[in-house]
Amino acid sequence: MPRALAQEIRRAIKRYPQKRSAAMPALWAVQRRYGWCSPEGINQAAAVMGVTPGYLEGVATFYDLFHLEPQGDHQVLVCTNISCWLRGADDLLKAFSDAAGVDGQGSSEDGQLFVQGFECMGACDIAPMASIDERYYGPLDESDAEDAVKQLRSREDVLPEKRIQDRGAAGGPRGSGDKRLARHPVNRGSRPQPGKS
Ligand code: FES
Repeated sequence: MPRALAQEIRRAIKRYPQKRSAAMPALWAVQRRYGWCSPEGINQAAAVMGVTPGYLEGVATFYDLFHLEPQGDHQVLVCTNISCWLRGADDLLKAFSDAAGVDGQGSSEDGQLFVQGFECMGACDIAPMASIDERYYGPLDESDAEDAVKQLRSREDVLPEKRIQDRGAAGGPRGSGDKRLARHPVNRGSRPQPGKS
């Protein structure tokens, strides 16, 4: 078992009064390690936690963001809920699927991309939007979908002008003048550390 994975799961267990409550961070650690919640990864996590693999599988099957089958190297989730749908999300989803060579939704044949429609991701102000490798982008049009897929395949920076973390404020121009937002780690290009705000 990868030592780093076991350590991450043990750290998660310490945050909860009952070890089985660490199921979600443990599954997330497995998914980050293997790209999906593989049977091998679930068995490893279960061994560290002292629970059955079936318990972890039960948790994983309940949540859309845990994958029990291999996904593409890059994950594109296109919001198709009401605000995004009203602004052309269905066409945007199709544009991503076509550009990635995915029939409908799922993984591309080359295994590089996974495209899926998704429910509201809480970023309706940038509709239509998508989450690409866990970062929000929007508003997007069909040409953005083609560009993003090409950039993902060639490992280039993806749609830097449409990335929400680069904005000063939701819906506002870059550099809104709000010092609280400018100080936030997300807007400085780094993610907040666990336990720190
Ligand atoms: S409806 Fe798309 S982010 Fe809310």
